[in-house]
Amino acid sequence: MNTIRIAIVITCAMILSGCRVSQPGRIESEMAKDVKHKITVGGKNTPNPIPATPENLADGQKHFGHHCGICHGLDGEATGVPFAQKMAPPIPSLSSSDVQEYKDGQLKWIIENGINPSGMPSWKGILDDEEMWKIVNFMRHLPPKGSLGIAEVYKKEQEEHEHMHMHEKDSK
Ligand code: HEC
Repeated sequence: MNTIRIAIVITCAMILSGCRVSQPGRIESEMAKDVKHKITVGGKNTPNPIPATPENLADGQKHFGHHCGICHGLDGEATGVPFAQKMAPPIPSLSSSDVQEYKDGQLKWIIENGINPSGMPSWKGILDDEEMWKIVNFMRHLPPKGSLGIAEVYKKEQEEHEHMHMHEKDSK
């Protein structure tokens, strides 16, 4: 019931703001955020059954590095991810208040279902529930930006780049 009312209010607001051509950007993105936080992303009332013990956090960090690091960086800040800002929408900082405002169950929901349409994939059938909850724990205890270095794949790429540049210099 509540959800339906919010949806109606938002729909009306969208129609109204659509008529007024002035400054759509901020209002629209604020509204899109509201729709996501209140309606689209489920799992709000599901508590995290996995405690954030040091072992579980270490597991979460490992799974995060393995599955999410390629886009979100090892630290959740997209450190070393070359295309992070080129994606539309760009890769968000996972320590930002926009992301941290989600409930644990919603973060798990995002991992399970992905965000459609965008580059954030769904991990249903790839990660099991326990792994997803451990990743949620890790996202609540993210290390300082840059402190974990950059993902292995990009390290190789960087080295190859440097190697190529060295060759360019050699041939000059
Ligand atoms: C292929 C790149 C890619 C991978 C891999 C990826 N993500 Fe994302 N992720 C994105 C993009 C792009 C967004 C921005 C989506 C948006 O704002 O609509 C995003 C957004 C998010 C958000 C914030 C959603 C919001 O509404 O603000 C969370 C949380 C998140 N990802 C967690 C994860 C976790 C955990 C993993 C690993 C299990 C992961 N992502 C793997 C690209 C990726």
